[in-house]
Amino acid sequence: MWRNLDVLALWLQYHSARGNFAFLKVINLSMSTDVFMTNHLYVENSIPAFSREAPFSNVLTDLQTKGWSVQDDFFSTDFTQALMDEVENIHIAYMQQAGVGRKQDHQVVLDTRRDYIQWIDPDKPIKKDFLKMMEDLRVALNRRLFLGLFDYEAHFARYETGAFYEKHIDAFKGESNRILSTVLYLNEGWQEGEGGELVIYDENDPTIEIGRFYPKKGRLAVFLSECFYHEVVVANRTRHSIAGWFRINNTTSMTLDPDQ
Ligand code: OGA
Ligand code: MN
Repeated sequence: MWRNLDVLALWLQYHSARGNFAFLKVINLSMSTDVFMTNHLYVENSIPAFSREAPFSNVLTDLQTKGWSVQDDFFSTDFTQALMDEVENIHIAYMQQAGVGRKQDHQVVLDTRRDYIQWIDPDKPIKKDFLKMMEDLRVALNRRLFLGLFDYEAHFARYETGAFYEKHIDAFKGESNRILSTVLYLNEGWQEGEGGELVIYDENDPTIEIGRFYPKKGRLAVFLSECFYHEVVVANRTRHSIAGWFRINNTTSMTLDPDQ
């Protein structure tokens, strides 16, 4: 469904691409979207999602300057814990072995990845709130960076001891509608030596490691899906996270974009 803000973002994108508005830069600077978008009370489960002012601003600035961002304590401790309680209690029978590719191309390739997933639907207050916060982030990204993001899909992920996800890219240029990847980490007290780090590689030379982040509770990693190779090294304890993707809509008269 078209949302008014999406229409506005596309309209702005269209005209700015044609240089129609000299004043767009001013709008861009004056849009401090964070403040008004994150101040409302989230009544679904009454746990405040954020513990700091303007939680999106560092993400937006990092994406603008380097294309990726890792933020500690992105969500409040209680909010992150509520998400952890949710995923920890999913029986493995209700998770699916993660695969590679979408729809017809979907395959479970155990050499490549060994995590179990469950897609997040807004069927419980905490899941609904999580999706709502990411929706706010989507709108902020569109306003500040004119990304034209259309929606967000996300799944819980469980890496049992010994699981990993080898070096990969989440989207190939022009072949996918995934624009921006996000990963939120949920484990309490992850120690050095327990593995499971996210390794991010240089966008121009994917043999060069540019960052290694252990899955610290409340940490959010965000990166341009088509630009950054990354991997999850072997986890030495059960590792829980939420991986998600902001997408554009590539539906044409010939192909209908699949949901997941
Ligand atoms: C993914 C992924 C990284 C992580 O699910 O595509 O790369 O740190 N996850 O869990
Ligand atoms: Mn990935």
